[in-house]
Amino acid sequence: MQDSIIRLESATVDVVIKTHPFAEILYWGKHLRHFSSQNTGSLVRPVANGRLDIDVPLTLMAEPGHGLFGTPGIEGHRQAQDGSPVFKTVGVERQGQTLTINAKDELAGLRLVSEIHLDGSGVLTVRHGVTNLRAQAWQVDRLAVTLPVAERARDVMAFHGRWTREFQPHRLTLEHDSFVLESRRGRSSHEHFPALMTGTPAFSEMHGDVWGVHLGWSGNHRLRAEVKTDGRRYVQAEALYLPGEMALEEGETLWTPRLYASYSACGLNGMSQQFHRYLRENIIRFPANKPRPVHLNTWEGIYFDHDPAYIMKMADEAAALGVERFIIDDGWFKGRNDDYAALGDWYLDEKKYPQGLKPVIDHVKTKGMEFGIWVEPEMVNPDADLYRAHPDWVLAMPGYPQLLGRHQLVLNLNIPQVFDYLLERMSWLLGEHDIDYVKWDMNREIVQPAHEGKAAADAQTRQYYRLLDTLRVRFPHIEFESCSSGGGRIDYEVLSRCHRFWPSDNNDALERNTIQRGMSYFFPPEVMGAHIGNKHCHATFRQHSIAFRGLTALFGHMGLELDPVSADAQEREGYRHYAALYKQWRTLIHSGMQWRLDMPDATTLAQAVVAQDRRQALLLVSQLAMPDYTLMSPLRMAGLEADAQYRIMLLDHPDIRITGEGGHTMRKLPEWMLTPQTVSGEWLMEAGLALPVLDPESAILIGFERV
Ligand code: GLA
Repeated sequence: MQDSIIRLESATVDVVIKTHPFAEILYWGKHLRHFSSQNTGSLVRPVANGRLDIDVPLTLMAEPGHGLFGTPGIEGHRQAQDGSPVFKTVGVERQGQTLTINAKDELAGLRLVSEIHLDGSGVLTVRHGVTNLRAQAWQVDRLAVTLPVAERARDVMAFHGRWTREFQPHRLTLEHDSFVLESRRGRSSHEHFPALMTGTPAFSEMHGDVWGVHLGWSGNHRLRAEVKTDGRRYVQAEALYLPGEMALEEGETLWTPRLYASYSACGLNGMSQQFHRYLRENIIRFPANKPRPVHLNTWEGIYFDHDPAYIMKMADEAAALGVERFIIDDGWFKGRNDDYAALGDWYLDEKKYPQGLKPVIDHVKTKGMEFGIWVEPEMVNPDADLYRAHPDWVLAMPGYPQLLGRHQLVLNLNIPQVFDYLLERMSWLLGEHDIDYVKWDMNREIVQPAHEGKAAADAQTRQYYRLLDTLRVRFPHIEFESCSSGGGRIDYEVLSRCHRFWPSDNNDALERNTIQRGMSYFFPPEVMGAHIGNKHCHATFRQHSIAFRGLTALFGHMGLELDPVSADAQEREGYRHYAALYKQWRTLIHSGMQWRLDMPDATTLAQAVVAQDRRQALLLVSQLAMPDYTLMSPLRMAGLEADAQYRIMLLDHPDIRITGEGGHTMRKLPEWMLTPQTVSGEWLMEAGLALPVLDPESAILIGFERV
């Protein structure tokens, strides 16, 4: 038998796995400078009284047959038989930092393959594949990836949210039982982003041990953090199956989605930086060396009111402001005058575009911009020719009335004719027009999904992937954005097919600060669409200065979401200014290391990006509300080179005001804003930098340059 203790290692994280007779993770934590498999003897557990007379291993598959009474990793049966598998390792292969463990349960007639990979970034990925070895189908009720975390991981952090308010973090201390989050909406959802973090008490951005996991899956899911009654803890994640939806025929294999896991010994920043690096090196597909172009998206500018002559005027203005990609949103196809009708009828609206789309596209291109367009292929309105011709193409449980969402229904992509129709229509659109970019939307949740009477949520998600994959192969030059009423479909699996996300339909700079910060735990700025919206935000009716809107959109992939033609001169000057500022700094923002800084005053959000070579850094401080204290505490930077000297530069803060007497909050600026200063990296990180008193709903951009 091979050595049954294996260590996977990276510069920051190690994982130690016992492979025989059952696979079990013994350690997932900080990289160990010294290791010998004999060490693991120190972890051999006692057997306690009052419970089973054996040591109960927390196996990789968490089978109840081992005497584990927590939530199992696998549940299923073969007509009520073979329902309690216990897998025994039959073979182990190691290739570099990838381990493949083959296991079997002869009695239950099942094979299990577990793939465990520890990336150089420190990110661990795990997935399981279960194969049915018998003639009769094996019904899968649940199949999860389970990872043990240390007993000291007592705090849990996750996100809640809703439309226009995605990625809102919340925390709890978990002493007993479990914390569960589930999406049954047919998408990763605004409400339950498939991730959770667990860590030592009061773990923060800079401190504490953190174990963060994300399930790469765009459909129904369940994640759990659980404390066993013996004190051991684990996190678990799975695609959530509806009753009866998943069965394995003989020889068929079901793979779990990949679980992405990042351990950090230095707080949430360490976790995020590993995830960001992993994504940049392994998942994000973006033409190398191509900067992310400034967008103009027409949605909040003109909505459904499409007039090609006016759109071309918008394009002229956009180009003059420095926009590099012009995107026509919803409203271009036949009969689409509002959101009550026409989804599914993917033909050009010839009333609006009597000469076709070509003149508009040509115009955009002659202005030196790329062209993008909006689609929502998975949906149909009851008021659409497609629905009138094929009411049976809807994803529905026969006999039950389907509920409308934004006046629309979901198409059943499992019906071959539906798939072919959409492929044909999308191929017409993308093949017959000079299109560089597609905003792919999905605006309705999935209720009672069924194909031929059988639950089909999982199958629908897979068909969505297949449709997108087929189009990507046909049109490899086209970039896709994943949008789902804003941030309803954001995860690593869809990111492997797309180039960026639309995180929220809320362009209110104040709200965006929290949303984008939440998203930054798992995603780097370059995949985060961040648009400057109208002066009067359409989602909240709040009004923000162009400086606050511009700076808030800077730490993402910037765009404009408005009508530049009707904007006033001051606004337009602002758009031009922030597009230029973005172009100046995007390479750094989209490649550097991101830091969220802990601030004693919760009304202040501070984030920095430090170049990989630490020569330059940007710091954005956003004041969300009236500060709690009269003076901000000195801001301690992170990620700089301790031994180097940095010049401090005020890069952008047009809103700043000082008044000698009277009502305003500041009468003199901090000294470095008046007299240029050069300070050591160590000092900036340990002692800090005095900040001006900032007004609520304003921001300041500071730069550091190594001298
Ligand atoms: C969704 C998107 C918006 C916009 C509209 C168009 O709500 O999130 O950005 O594209 O659809 O109908």
